Amino acid sequence: MRLHGKVALVTGGSHGIGQAIALNYAREGAKVAICGRGQAALDETVGIIRESGGAAVSYTVDVCDKQQVDDMVERLLAEWGAIDILVNNAGICDPAPFLDITESDWDRHMAINLKGTFLASQSVARAMVARGTKGSIIHMSSVNGLAAESDQVHYNATKAAMISMGMSMALELAPHGIRVNSLCPGFIETRLTQPLIQNGPAIAQYLKTIPMNRVGQPDEIATAAIFLASDDSRYMTGQSLVIDGGQLIKLS
Ligand SMILES: NC(=O)c1ccc[n+]([C@@H]2O[C@H](COP(=O)([O-])OP(=O)(O)OC[C@H]3O[C@@H](n4cnc5c(N)ncnc54)[C@H](O)[C@@H]3O)[C@@H](O)[C@H]2O)c1
Repeated sequence: MRLHGKVALVTGGSHGIGQAIALNYAREGAKVAICGRGQAALDETVGIIRESGGAAVSYTVDVCDKQQVDDMVERLLAEWGAIDILVNNAGICDPAPFLDITESDWDRHMAINLKGTFLASQSVARAMVARGTKGSIIHMSSVNGLAAESDQVHYNATKAAMISMGMSMALELAPHGIRVNSLCPGFIETRLTQPLIQNGPAIAQYLKTIPMNRVGQPDEIATAAIFLASDDSRYMTGQSLVIDGGQLIKLS
């Protein structure tokens, strides 16, 4: 068990990639806290972990709200005494052509994907520093933070900024023994990607951009999240790990 005795907080841990990370962390021995906005989905994920003998708690939190994030961190510290791992996974992606993106589309992506990552990171990092916790913080970026995709200018900008934020945080937190890295998944099968997966001709065309010729599964991101959270990556900080079936290496 690579995370035995650790406490992990996974934002957006009730669906898709975040849920897979929460379940895999629990299997590796971590006590897992998840947050999101829908109580039913949070309860379901907590139930799965507890039924298999793990420890889990959940918080209904909007990651854009500083007060809610700070309260969650305080309650979690009161519950389990420390936070060793933070995964900034909560995110949205509502594609729209650049010329049609509204100010409110832009603000919502910045608020959830970017400000949410900042708020949770700062709150947890302060607690880690105060307690001397040699923690690991992981940002869920994307291949879209490293290369451009049409109709996603707002989303791409948040994912690139998360990588930059990760490097800058890594620099300041290294003296405290806290590591910060980003994960850059390619196309992963979740409810976020269902519209494209359900569109036969479109997904057939899309798969041509992926050398491994298939979409990825949430568990295939969770295994990398275990690596970044564990001592296996103890000399690694400020980096971005791409998991995309080879999509980014392909020129044509
Ligand atoms: N699915 C992919 O192909 C893919 C690829 C690269 C990166 N990502 C990133 O992975 C992360 C998870 O995506 P997913 O595909 O699992 O999507 P998903 O929609 O299944 O999960 C998103 C999670 O974020 C939570 N969330 C959204 N807004 C929130 C808010 N304001 N406060 C708290 N929680 C909030 C949701 O409740 C949900 O649990 C996102 O950051 C996404 O950008 C996904």
